Amino acid sequence: TFSQHYEEKIRPCIDIVDNLRSLGVEKDLALPAIAVIGDQSSGKSSVLEALSGVALPRGSGIVTRCPLELKMIRTKEKGWHGQISYQTNNQDYCEDIDDPEDVEKKIREAQDKIAGPGVSISEDLISLQITSPNVPDLTLIDLPGIARVAVKGQPENIGEQIKRLIKKFVTKQETINLVVVPCNVDIATTEALQMAQNEDPEGERTLGILTKPDLVDKGTEQTVVDIVHNEVIHLTKGYMIVRCRGQKEILDHVTLNEATETEKFFFKDHPQFNTLYNEGFATIPKLAEKLTIELVHHIEKSMPRLEEQIEAKLAETLKELEAYGSGPPSDPSERLSFLIDKVTAFIQDMFNLTTGEEVKCNS
Ligand code: GDP
Ligand code: NA
Ligand code: MG
Repeated sequence: TFSQHYEEKIRPCIDIVDNLRSLGVEKDLALPAIAVIGDQSSGKSSVLEALSGVALPRGSGIVTRCPLELKMIRTKEKGWHGQISYQTNNQDYCEDIDDPEDVEKKIREAQDKIAGPGVSISEDLISLQITSPNVPDLTLIDLPGIARVAVKGQPENIGEQIKRLIKKFVTKQETINLVVVPCNVDIATTEALQMAQNEDPEGERTLGILTKPDLVDKGTEQTVVDIVHNEVIHLTKGYMIVRCRGQKEILDHVTLNEATETEKFFFKDHPQFNTLYNEGFATIPKLAEKLTIELVHHIEKSMPRLEEQIEAKLAETLKELEAYGSGPPSDPSERLSFLIDKVTAFIQDMFNLTTGEEVKCNS
């Protein structure tokens, strides 16, 4: 099973990275970020909230107005902890969040402060860190959706602004791009997929995510199956298909856990999509598995570079150790004279320091 595989193979790999990070070997340890890109209302935020188990701002129109970095850290200890941080007017802002229910409100507040209330966007990042035993070890980035026409209160070039912002993330080599496309649009004309293909022509960093399978146009189900089978627009990492909560289910307060159950039965019972379920291409939990495995591949690829860093750090530390000289002798009879030597040296140091300061003050 996956959880067994996770505990035996994946968890140790992530633990190594965490331990190295706590030693300060972190400069090049950037875990890949996973960015979601797609048209406005294609379901990006819905996919992220289903993966994280935390309700995020979503709905119709422009809801996500700043890049949101969602850093999830899986812990062994029980309990949920969140922290939101960002910068406004050159001031750092950081706040603990104890209740997952508060996340959405806090993000909306942050967006209002950063981008202003209304419909403007900003390139400034909001960072949300979540520690819990129930999240995958992943960093996800939610982005504003591609919009074609400006709505009232938006500058004429809003489309260009958003595309420039998305490009900033898609271009980074360590970013895995999740391109979100609803099942009820023509995938070939999707601008997000074209943007990802421009930056990543082989599709090595791009994973396609089909959403809203419950809204598929009758008669086009087989096309969707062909797309997920990677037979239409080929991506090296392929495609997954998920079903998230619709607007009505949100209004009816369907929980994320209930939505996971609904999703499973939707695919299992679907006359055309059940094959995708049986083949492991469908549902949010399968997507979380796939992303975690991608993360481990990335860690494996970074190992040689890590080894270099560790050796450099070791050499530096040994040199520092040498500078401290020898420690206390093991023979108890020699310890007193060792201590006297150290104290003498210490007092000498203090004295030099004090006289040095006095000289400076007087002059
Ligand atoms: P974003 O703008 O790309 O972040 O899209 P959102 O996540 O805000 O979703 C837009 C709308 O589509 C919301 O009303 C969601 O409830 C709805 N939605 C998302 N996924 C699905 C799905 O799988 N099925 C249905 N019926 N609605 C969905
Ligand atoms: Na939206
Ligand atoms: Mg959104």
